[in-house]
Amino acid sequence: MAERLVIDPITRIEGHLRIELETEGGKIVKAWSETTQFRGLEEIVQGRDPRDVWAFVQRICGVCTSVHAIASIVAVENAIGSNPPEQARLIRDMVLASQEVQDHVIHFYHLHALDFVDVTQAAKADPQAAVDFARAIGSTWKGNTLERMTQVRDTVQGILDSGQLSVFTGGYWGHPDYRLPPEANLMAVAHYLDALEFQRSMIRIGTVFGGKNPHPNFLVGGMACSIDPGHTESINQVQVDQIGVWVAESLEFVKACYVPDALAIAGVYKDYFDIGAAQDNYLAVGMAGATFGGDPAESKWTSGHTVIKPGVIFDGDLGTVHPFDPQKIEEWVHSAWYSYEGGDIGLKPSVGETTVAYTGPKPPYEWLGDSEEYTWCKAPRYDGRAVQVGPLARVVLAYAQGHERTVEIVDAALAQLGITPAQLNSTGGRILARAVECLTSAEILAETTFPTFVKNLKGGDIDVFDPTRWEPGSWAPEASGMSFVEVARGNLSHWVTIKDGKVARYQAVVPTTWLAGGRDASGQQGPYEESLAGDGQHPLSDPARPLEPLRTIHSFDPCMSCAVHVLESNGRGSWAVEA
Ligand code: NI
Ligand code: MG
Repeated sequence: MAERLVIDPITRIEGHLRIELETEGGKIVKAWSETTQFRGLEEIVQGRDPRDVWAFVQRICGVCTSVHAIASIVAVENAIGSNPPEQARLIRDMVLASQEVQDHVIHFYHLHALDFVDVTQAAKADPQAAVDFARAIGSTWKGNTLERMTQVRDTVQGILDSGQLSVFTGGYWGHPDYRLPPEANLMAVAHYLDALEFQRSMIRIGTVFGGKNPHPNFLVGGMACSIDPGHTESINQVQVDQIGVWVAESLEFVKACYVPDALAIAGVYKDYFDIGAAQDNYLAVGMAGATFGGDPAESKWTSGHTVIKPGVIFDGDLGTVHPFDPQKIEEWVHSAWYSYEGGDIGLKPSVGETTVAYTGPKPPYEWLGDSEEYTWCKAPRYDGRAVQVGPLARVVLAYAQGHERTVEIVDAALAQLGITPAQLNSTGGRILARAVECLTSAEILAETTFPTFVKNLKGGDIDVFDPTRWEPGSWAPEASGMSFVEVARGNLSHWVTIKDGKVARYQAVVPTTWLAGGRDASGQQGPYEESLAGDGQHPLSDPARPLEPLRTIHSFDPCMSCAVHVLESNGRGSWAVEA
């Protein structure tokens, strides 16, 4: 007889993801991924000036800051035929890259590591053993000193003695499947604290170019910041030098601290390379930061690292990379609380609809999964298939296309861990891929994007705006545009139709929507559901402390605000309190 279990919320931030499970004999046999918050940004921007939309849709999320703004301006530029200058694109690339590196570091240390690291055990560690452990795993991080480890151990002991665990409240501390020795827990907690400092420093790159964070300023046709080495009121040599320091620091942190930590944790929890497989279909338009205005196959507007071509892999066949076709994207609402005029069909985002049709129970509710509809998250499909997006999809695509640096890092990691490329489709694989990608992203930023920007600047290129299509009078009476951007959690696309200078249609298809969506009309599960219940083998040893499914769902780096991007008419965030 199956037992039922609800985990709600299941994330440390963006907490409106609920997972319902059925288990039998310590294994998960059924899973429902349920987004219980309804927002509404696609509706809010209807009828607005398309040049303003970025500022609204950027508020889809405060974590994935910048990415919706950039996706929006690129989609609008595609519709109106604007062509931002190279320096503006490079600035956007730097904002995207710094956001992505920051996001991956935050995710690993602050949102995910504590599924594997028992904070309370850190207090029992010998600080010298923690220093030795760090050295043994190849961590060259400057914080690996006896003084620092001693200080962190004492801090943790102080927190435990106080009886108030603060940010560490509510963890499943003492769960028997926490496997790290005390010294590894201490090292990880020390790096957790160092990562807090790092992420604050790192995001300043976006703040310099965008004026603030979260939600920097952007501009259709270019960037809103002026750049001129000779002017004090512009972004000048002083700021450029400072950015150079932050870029170098970020590469150092990723290389010396994050990557060795991720590999060490993956090594201790190696069985997680056989747990949490989702559909082995992968979609990405390039490596992290890759940006296209319009169909990537025809886009003149490319940015980011474009060595890797857009593509799709089916059924784990890394030998065949299919060309990416935006027209094969459809969103289904079969399991979601929306209705389509045409019924239970898939709709292309260019003609997408966001019509609320809540059929769920009046809260508080016990169980949603018995109903056909159980979530606010649509279910995107590519060519009818559920696909994975995100760091894993991008790394698999780069690996399959022979991107030298990716192949080098991945092959070294596979050899060190003793696993095969096929095992990357797993909870452990998603953690590993995120670390691999963070390193290549930090390297590309430090070695290509930033130096190119500086070189152009030294050559006198200070143009950051294309004024030719600013005036609505220069636009066609009706125009459509789309953008594809590879952001931290995966492939993001925005789709806009402009009529008589105003937005007539707007749709965003977001990484977490791809991953967290529910079943479609043909019964295919979404990737979260598949990762938990795909093979009936996912462990869940203690229903009172469901640590194992946390690990798997967190490995996707959920962002539910992004996934549903819809808001109540009275402005409140949660539909559940009113429905
Ligand atoms: Ni988000
Ligand atoms: Mg949407």
